[in-house]
Formats: sequence, C-alpha cells, structure tokens
Amino acid sequence: MNIAVFSTKPYDRRFFDAANAPHQQGLVYFEPRLTAATASLARGFPAVCAFVNDQLDTAVLTALHAGGTRLIALRSAGYNHVDLATARRLGLTVVHVPQYSPHAVAEHTVALMLALNRHIHRAYNRVREGNFSIEGLLGFDLHGKTVGLVGLGKIGNCVAHSLHGFGCRVLAVDPVPLSAELQGIVTVCPLDDMLTQADVVSLHCPLTPATRHLINATTIARMKRGVMLINTSRGALVDTAAVIEALLAGQIGYLGLDVYEDEAELFYEDRSSRLITDDVFSRLLTLPNVLVTGHQAFFTSEALTTIATTTMQAVADFAAGRPMTFALVAAPAAAEGQK
Ligand code: NAI
Repeated sequence: MNIAVFSTKPYDRRFFDAANAPHQQGLVYFEPRLTAATASLARGFPAVCAFVNDQLDTAVLTALHAGGTRLIALRSAGYNHVDLATARRLGLTVVHVPQYSPHAVAEHTVALMLALNRHIHRAYNRVREGNFSIEGLLGFDLHGKTVGLVGLGKIGNCVAHSLHGFGCRVLAVDPVPLSAELQGIVTVCPLDDMLTQADVVSLHCPLTPATRHLINATTIARMKRGVMLINTSRGALVDTAAVIEALLAGQIGYLGLDVYEDEAELFYEDRSSRLITDDVFSRLLTLPNVLVTGHQAFFTSEALTTIATTTMQAVADFAAGRPMTFALVAAPAAAEGQK
C-alpha cells in the first residue's frame, strides 16, 4: 500500500525505512506539513501518515477522502489535531500510537524541572563565556517539595514514580481512580487543592475542549507564589498571555515548555536566520526563568523505533483487512480493496 508521509525529516525516514523492511509498503516522504494547501500531494494514496502539527480538519479530511485516502495513521499519541467526527462520517480509519515511550516524555519533563530549578541553561552560557559567578543561580531542593500533576495516565505515571524517587510529595488530578500501583506514591485530589499546595505543577492530560486553557488567569491566581509550571503535553492547555503576565508579576517563578499553543508555525524548522514574528513567543524567550524546547520530549531512539514499527504494523493490518489495534476511528469496510 502506498503511504504519503507528511512533515518528514531525515530522522523520520531513517526509522520508517527500517520499520518498513519486513512490510515493503510504498513509503513516499513529503517534507511539507499537511494542510489544505498540501493535501493534494496525497491524491491517489490510500494511506496518509501525519504528525502533531499536521492539519486534519474537515477541509483536509474531505480532500484526502476525495483523493482516495482511507487510512490516516498518526505517528503521535495525541490526536487533538484530528476532526474524528468528520473522519467517522467519511468512513476513514484513524489510528494513532498511544504508547511509544512514556519514559521519553517523563524524563524530558523531569529534565526541564531540574534545569529550571538549578538554572542549568543560564549556567551553561555563563561558563562558556568564562563567567564563573554563581550569583543569581540559587536553586532549591526538589526533595520534600510538593509536585502537582494534571493527568495521571502513562506519562503522568512515569513522572510520579520519578518524583517519588526524588523524595517529593506527589499530588495528582485525574478523573480516573488511582491504580493500585500508585497507592502510597500519589495522592489524588481536586484541581483547586492541588493548585494551592503544589510547588511545581506539571501538565500530562490530553488537549480537549474541557482542558483548553486549563491554566489561565483564574487558576494561576490559585497557585503558590513563585510556582514552577511545566507543560510537555499540548500548548493550548495553557493561556500563554496569562502565563506571561504571571511571570512578570512573579506569581509564576519558573516556566518550562516543550509545547506552545501556536507552535505549528515555529517548531521543527531552522528559523535562526529569520525574525520570529510571534510577539508572544518572542516575549517568552526574553525571560531568564523560562526554558522552552521545541516539542522534542518524545524524541528518543526508543520512541522513534516504536512509533515507526507500530505505524507500519497498523498499515499492514489495514491492508490485510485485519482488526486495527489502536484505532481511534475504525471503518473496516473502508479497508476493502485497499491492498
Ligand atoms: P494517557 O491517555 O495515558 O493519559 C492522559 C490522562 O489524562 C488520563 O489518565 C486521563 O484520565 C487524564 N485526563 C483527561 N482529562 C483530564 C482532566 N480534565 N484533568 C485531569 N486529567 C485528565 O496519555 P499519555 O500517554 O500520558 O499522554 C498525555 C499527553 O502527553 C498526550 O495527550 C499528549 O498531548 C502529550 N504528549 C506529548 C509529547 C511530547 O513530545 N511533548 C509526546 C507524547 C504525548
């Protein structure tokens, strides 16, 4: 089966070519993001493979369907960028990779916490310039601090274990009851209780209409003054303008982001020779207590291997008419004749 793979970089090709060796599907790599303007590239391709900043709204899904696409294989866990209702209506099958390495994202989350806490990003620059002063680099022990997690799924679970190991008190907000494995490690409580007690707040829930701008002026006001906020989940969980106000006022003391609500126009490209015209993002970068990475928490060789092998297995299952293991929308009838 021919697969149009969008938003590809050399590292995607390396891992996907290796995962495709036993399957021998027809992978065609496209560098551009999938948008209404680029959807025509997929004309005639029964399968499309998309990444986190590809657009899969009604217009794009309709265009893909009209061009013969029947399978959307997301090489991500998150699927907030896909209009699943439209996919269902069109009879498209949509699969994702729900678990590839929760450890990759959890470890990056803890890395952001430790880097911010000990000002590692500033110390790195100072030492390289021959400035060995430690004035202004005073940190605090994570040991004994209260960390609040929003979302205690696969990634939140790994973060909880790590922070428990550091000697933190871990609070969590999640509608799902606490698993037996986390008893004694995590205390589940309402959001407001967590916000008022946590020294560090870290977000690990999906982006949905209910969680969009979960962190806003009102919820920030409930947090402890000087709190550390970490978001490695999805940018729009946070109202960035409200967060900047809180940083300037000292209400938020540290901010670690791997995701940003308008990241699609910025991330995954080398923009170092151009001006960044996003004033909100530019403002964030001027603040010394802000550390931003460009949606790379997933980016380990273990994670990329699992993403590619899971995706290629899903395509093979679809082509063979087998049940789809990680289907968000299953349209078995649509698989007929797609071999
Ligand atoms: P998961 O599905 O295992 O866990 C999500 C948890 O959030 C669930 O336990 C769910 O009950 C909980 N939840 C849902 N709504 C909530 C709410 N309103 N308040 C509190 N909890 C709520 O997902 P997983 O694998 O842990 O991933 C979490 C998120 O991490 C993904 O949705 C994705 O957006 C993000 N992610 C980011 C990556 C990166 O590279 N930065 C890579 C992979 C995922």
